[in-house]
Amino acid sequence: MFLKDKKILITGLANKYSIAAGIAHAMHREGASLAFTYQNERMLKNLAPIANELGSSILIECDVSSDDSIKKSFTQLKKHWDTFDGFVHSIGFAPADQLLGDFVDVTTREGFKIAHDISSYSFTALAKAAKPMLNDSSALLTLTYLGAMQSLPNYNVMGLAKASLEANTRFLAASLGSDNIRVNAISAGPIKTLAASGVKNFRKMLSQHSERAPLGRTVTSEEVGNVAAFLCSDYASGITGEITYVDAGFNTAAMPLNDKG
Ligand SMILES: NC(=O)c1ccc[n+]([C@@H]2O[C@H](COP(=O)([O-])OP(=O)(O)OC[C@H]3O[C@@H](n4cnc5c(N)ncnc54)[C@H](O)[C@@H]3O)[C@@H](O)[C@H]2O)c1
Repeated sequence: MFLKDKKILITGLANKYSIAAGIAHAMHREGASLAFTYQNERMLKNLAPIANELGSSILIECDVSSDDSIKKSFTQLKKHWDTFDGFVHSIGFAPADQLLGDFVDVTTREGFKIAHDISSYSFTALAKAAKPMLNDSSALLTLTYLGAMQSLPNYNVMGLAKASLEANTRFLAASLGSDNIRVNAISAGPIKTLAASGVKNFRKMLSQHSERAPLGRTVTSEEVGNVAAFLCSDYASGITGEITYVDAGFNTAAMPLNDKG
């Protein structure tokens, strides 16, 4: 129970397939008390039963594209928790037309702005809003993807937004370190979720992943959840500003093992 006595806010749980769901389950198992934010009313139907199962009745609307919504959500949270011990940022978005076709042809100024706003700036915005309520030894966590480091088809402007998010993680870590608040990211391998289904040929990504990854498979949101729980616990007290890969080793292998010849 290495998160006993920790209060953690989870964002981005859209349904049971969300990576945030795997994280919430692992954190609950390790003794954390949880609160949740959801993007809009439509998300509440799937979130409510999961939160209930995890012993939480703190469900707060927060659309990260709006400063007003972020502000209101922390005012709401304050009614339940005076202070807390960190949050998980499991939010990403780019308009569908940005994730289909050749990067140089499909990327627009508006698409670029939206992807960076929702997928990267929102991490800074949430940290800013949460800071006055964060306890000593708090931990912030976000979810990134290898597309930040290497190009691949169709991921397009999301790769740029994830690169920004990874830099964001390092700058937030530097900024909040003197308050003993740690900031980390998990770079997860591809997992079939609602957001992932917006990337064209996602199924192909899954099969190619299994071929090249040293473990010969993809990862589950439960495996991501276990690492997330560790990174937000005091066992990780010496780790900040890091990108931790939970991808069955995919990023470490240049070629599939069955190409030995
Ligand atoms: N699934 C993968 O293969 C994979 C791999 C690596 C990283 N990630 C990242 O993990 C994170 C979670 O995605 P997921 O795969 O669990 O998909 P998901 O669709 O379950 O979660 C995405 C969440 O983002 C939320 N969101 C989007 N716009 C928002 C806004 N304006 N305000 C508030 N919330 C908003 C959605 O409501 C949803 O809950 C994302 O950052 C994603 O890029 C996913």
